[in-house]
Amino acid sequence: MATIRDVARLAGVSVATVSRVLNQNGYVNKETEQKVIRAIEQLRYEPNAVARGLAGKQTGTIALILPDITNPFFPEMARGVEDAAQAQGYTVILCNSDDQGQKEKSYIEMLRKKYIDGIIFASNTLGQEDVEQMRSNNIPLVVLDRAPTRQLCSVIRSQNYEGAKLAVRHLLDVGCRKIAHIYGPQELITAKKRLLGYEETVMHFPWYTPSLMVPGHFRVDGGFDAVKELLKRHPDVDGIFCGNDLMAVGALKALYQLGVRVPEDVALIGFDGIGLTELTQPELSTVAQPIYEMGVLAAKVLMETIETGVMEPRLYELEVTLVARESTKRRAEA
Ligand code: RIB
Repeated sequence: MATIRDVARLAGVSVATVSRVLNQNGYVNKETEQKVIRAIEQLRYEPNAVARGLAGKQTGTIALILPDITNPFFPEMARGVEDAAQAQGYTVILCNSDDQGQKEKSYIEMLRKKYIDGIIFASNTLGQEDVEQMRSNNIPLVVLDRAPTRQLCSVIRSQNYEGAKLAVRHLLDVGCRKIAHIYGPQELITAKKRLLGYEETVMHFPWYTPSLMVPGHFRVDGGFDAVKELLKRHPDVDGIFCGNDLMAVGALKALYQLGVRVPEDVALIGFDGIGLTELTQPELSTVAQPIYEMGVLAAKVLMETIETGVMEPRLYELEVTLVARESTKRRAEA
């Protein structure tokens, strides 16, 4: 297998020049760059990632692939990644995949060619084969939030199942007698665990029926439409747990349009803890994830992997916090 020295010899330049071309940092004139690229292609040179790993960071750049930057949850998480990375001298390349698997794969291929030091994957179409392919290329990888199960890398997320139970128990504590759930896309482990937490908390009540669960797609309009459908099915619902805050915002709007008072008629709670929940009227109760801290931890785990050259898969599940506000304020006993 060709080494970086073989490339330098064939191109007639120093190893440092080859490294600058590989890492896209530092000045190299066009003619020299072309000679190095020809030598890399002729020798089919691939950096020995273990050496890269052992040698610590090569490009000083990591990538963060997010599924939807229009959801305030992800920019807050990206802020944590960037602050932690910059503190250790790394630059972060932010990629938005729009939840599209093909877009994610193109990003991974582009990043691999740029000799990125590592990738934090916060999207959800990453399959086992993608993880294995990145491992075979020895690209250090950390999966954040929407981690599929059985990963060959470290996974950071919050306690989604426990957080859902916390939300539903809070609605029961404030006097709700029939609680519904507006859920996120069930191909996402985060949404799936929250639905499970809801179901396992309410399924023994006589009023429970699966028709109390309606999809909201993790979107504002999804939460809005779900409330309309829900109140058609069950006009006597007096508590709603939404699987994320954006759906809770949409639900609040629909309840207002239907003339349903929050919390007097229906108590409403979301999940995530984004700032938007403090701007609604009434302010929204939620189960807050440690969003920024999840980003910081993911960056630190990835940088340690890069600099030690050792990938030791580990699951980190961070605690969540109940934030009780106006939308679930204790209601007068019915
Ligand atoms: O709001 C976006 C949702 O997608 C969050 O709950 C987060 O956990 C992610 O899974």
